[in-house]
Amino acid sequence: MAFKERVFSGVQPTGNLHLGNYLGALVKFVALQEKYDCIYCIVDLHAITVWQDPAELPKATREVAAAFIACGIDAKRHIVFNQSQVAEHAELAWIFNCVARLGWLNRMTQFKEKAGKDRENASVGLYAYPSLMAADILVYRATHVPVGEDQKQHLELSRDIAQKFNNDFGPSIRAHGYGEAFFPLPEPLIQGPATRVMSLRDGAKKMSKSDASDQSRINLTDAADAIAHKIRRAKTDPDPLPGEEAGLASRPEADNLVGIYAALAGRAKWEVLKEFGGAQFSSFKAALVDLAVAKLGPINAEMKRLMADPVHIDSVLAQGAERAQVIAAETMKAVKDIVGLVHR
Ligand code: TYM
Repeated sequence: MAFKERVFSGVQPTGNLHLGNYLGALVKFVALQEKYDCIYCIVDLHAITVWQDPAELPKATREVAAAFIACGIDAKRHIVFNQSQVAEHAELAWIFNCVARLGWLNRMTQFKEKAGKDRENASVGLYAYPSLMAADILVYRATHVPVGEDQKQHLELSRDIAQKFNNDFGPSIRAHGYGEAFFPLPEPLIQGPATRVMSLRDGAKKMSKSDASDQSRINLTDAADAIAHKIRRAKTDPDPLPGEEAGLASRPEADNLVGIYAALAGRAKWEVLKEFGGAQFSSFKAALVDLAVAKLGPINAEMKRLMADPVHIDSVLAQGAERAQVIAAETMKAVKDIVGLVHR
């Protein structure tokens, strides 16, 4: 069955949006606007699966909204809002909790990483997180989901949930005239040279908001001198850059910096190596600093400008939520018919 093509993706407002989020997600969000109807969500309900200071969360939410807009997302043509303003996300997540199996959630590596050794003390929300993520996507019956590599397993679970819902409720879906399958199986869009940006201090670790070392990541709020300092200090090996991609195979730090350069320049890694093959890191890093500052500087400045007017950001989010809710409410009505829940 053909579903209307629609893009959905989400970003958590947990502070420190970084180069990984930018290259793995935001750059793609912007590019997809040309071809699809897009819904971009600041997932505050996901954020509270671990403790968030209630005095800080609103600022973090507005900061992601500011980043979206500063990067070039058009909130008029597309939809930008924060998750908690559309209650249907949580409503559908409950239904999905009753569709997803314990065994499926037990396999989620991100839960294992985030809960750590003290699993008994993790919130139930952290465990059920992927059901909410499936609901985010499917409450809009979205077909395409741009994310970084680290979200791949969650996306597969979303597909499993959609498939099981379609199967379990198949007769009811057909009886109510909702076609053969109610939910699309959302497709992950994970492409390009920077689907997994690594820490600048350790090529084996993902660049992450939660890394204790601020030197490990470039934040979207970093000023030019901080960006330059972090890139110059980034871990590398002593050899010059190889001329071909195969030469990056056992050099994770070199691979990471080349990937970052390629993604920022909108080129492929092999093209970057064609230009810089044989160069020392000192000169490559100097070129990378120039490129990163040229790309991130204007975003940083625009974010600052937007953050100075929280009332405007809140009105963008409110308008986005209103439009999102119309679509979500329609889906929930149908879901209630299909599941057999009496409703108005
Ligand atoms: P979050 O907030 O951790 O990250 C937001 C986006 O940034 C990507 N990303 C990276 N990409 C490349 N390299 C990195 N080092 C890196 N770090 C983060 C993430 O893959 C993501 O695309 N669960 C999601 C949010 C979410 C969502 C959704 C996404 C909630 N519901 C529905 C898509 C669809 C998360 O925690 O992303």
